[in-house]
Amino acid sequence: MMKNLLFVNGCIRGRDSRTLRLAQHVISRIPDADIDVLLLPALHLTPYGAAEIAERDALSRAGAFDAPFFALANQFKNADAVVLACPFWDLSFPAMVRAYLERLCVTGLTFHYNQYGQPVADCRPRRLLYVTTRGGIVDNSDPALADHGSAYLESICKLLCGGRFDTLAAQGLDIIGNDVEALLQQAEKQADQIAAHFWA
Ligand SMILES: Cc1cc2nc3c(=O)[nH]c(=O)nc-3n(C[C@H](O)[C@H](O)[C@H](O)COP(=O)(O)O)c2cc1C
Repeated sequence: MMKNLLFVNGCIRGRDSRTLRLAQHVISRIPDADIDVLLLPALHLTPYGAAEIAERDALSRAGAFDAPFFALANQFKNADAVVLACPFWDLSFPAMVRAYLERLCVTGLTFHYNQYGQPVADCRPRRLLYVTTRGGIVDNSDPALADHGSAYLESICKLLCGGRFDTLAAQGLDIIGNDVEALLQQAEKQADQIAAHFWA
């Protein structure tokens, strides 16, 4: 059975992006996938301002969750799995991705609170794969070198989907003397493993 795979392409440098290369490698090897591509840079998303929050609140109060305003949230909600690819910037993901996440977190649509005040995930994706490349090498024991992307995206994954979360990364790509091609090929081998068992 074909499954719907949403590829959220946040690779801002386009065809020069090493992250895009790694993401395309993994996606092309995931079996039985109907792929929807969401090209984030083309959306020109801005951070939510007061007007958008007011509109969101009004639509939510009216229960109008099929409004175009919520198109990105509905697309995410109905995918079987999501691959989110973006470069590692400033210890995390680019602001463009955060602007996208603001569109996904909609109380009453993508998650809700139960009677105990606990969040309950309402989205279909059974897994979220975060694909990234980094210039340096992260070290979570050093605040100045920590990876603040993975932990945050894993929390968003739990909030919205409750499914499996994984990070696929190549790193050290901007360290002088490193063999960038070898590092990318090493990550592509991990990608092959992930893709082979993607729906398991
Ligand atoms: C604005 C910006 C911020 C960056 N911040 C970091 C960082 O905090 N840590 C790191 O290891 N590399 C950092 N880098 C390097 C990128 O992670 C690295 O070059 C990555 O491979 C870029 O991915 P791309 O080729 O897909 O664009 C940064 C690069 C840019 C342009």
